[in-house]
Amino acid sequence: MSSQPGIRQFAVVGNPIKHSRSPAIHQMFAAQTGVALEYSTLLSPLDGFAETVGQFFAAGGCGLNITVPFKEQAYVLSAKLSERARLAGAVNTLWQQDGQLNGCNTDGLGLLSDLQRLNAPLEGARILLIGAGGASKGVVYPLLNAGCARLHIVNRTEERAQAMRAHFSSQLPDYATRMSAGGLLQAEGEWDLVINATSSGLQDTAPELPGVRYAADALAYDMLYAALPTPFMRQAAEAGAHRCVDGLGMLVGQAAASFAIWNGMTPQLEPVLRELRRQLQ
Ligand code: ATR
Repeated sequence: MSSQPGIRQFAVVGNPIKHSRSPAIHQMFAAQTGVALEYSTLLSPLDGFAETVGQFFAAGGCGLNITVPFKEQAYVLSAKLSERARLAGAVNTLWQQDGQLNGCNTDGLGLLSDLQRLNAPLEGARILLIGAGGASKGVVYPLLNAGCARLHIVNRTEERAQAMRAHFSSQLPDYATRMSAGGLLQAEGEWDLVINATSSGLQDTAPELPGVRYAADALAYDMLYAALPTPFMRQAAEAGAHRCVDGLGMLVGQAAASFAIWNGMTPQLEPVLRELRRQLQ
């Protein structure tokens, strides 16, 4: 890490990390807002995450984004957690305040800002959330909080979906009656919003969802971002979804929320999203 005076230092930590788009995104935010910063990638050894974080902040670093597979470790390492991070059980944004490591999770904010940008059905919506891993956990609270009528979590391994529902029902008792869970076969029904939070796209496939129907104005949202269409988007279009999108807007949205925490300024998403899309095609 270079340490030129007046230039704020940021990085994203993961393993692997080479293909992260975060440096490009934050540099575009910096150009927009006039914040003088450097944002790099930081490869952490799998068994050396706490040391990597400690060294970064000891050298004067201002903030870290955390990605696969360290979000749960970042949660454990944080001395102070935002409510979002606590509910998600995972942290993607770290910074130091009064000598303490603070952790937040901006993934849910990123998804919500993108869903709002897309005018997705939220208030009163029937939402199907596919997957029960870290990506899925990060978005449960914001989706419930946005006023959906029902949130049904399905997963290839049904027990994980059930455990996730039980966890959030106990943490958020006011929302418990709106939540349900099951295996992929229990995804059957008509939905206003279907979100793929599985990593199946990385294997170039989509979860099998027999009996899933899309309402007339429904949105199919894949958290994966890639050259379009993703396998899930293809499958959703074949099942009758008229609007299918990938998760590039969520990626930019979570980055913007981290940027705002660190720098006190909210950047514009649209120009950054357009430029990234151009690079991906
Ligand atoms: P992440 O942090 O990205 O969510 P994870 O915790 O490993 O990663 O979770 C991956 C999710 O994708 C899980 O819900 C997984 O289902 P299982 O719990 O049954 O493993 C899901 N997943 C991965 N590959 C899949 C596939 N080919 N079909 C359906 N679901 C898949």
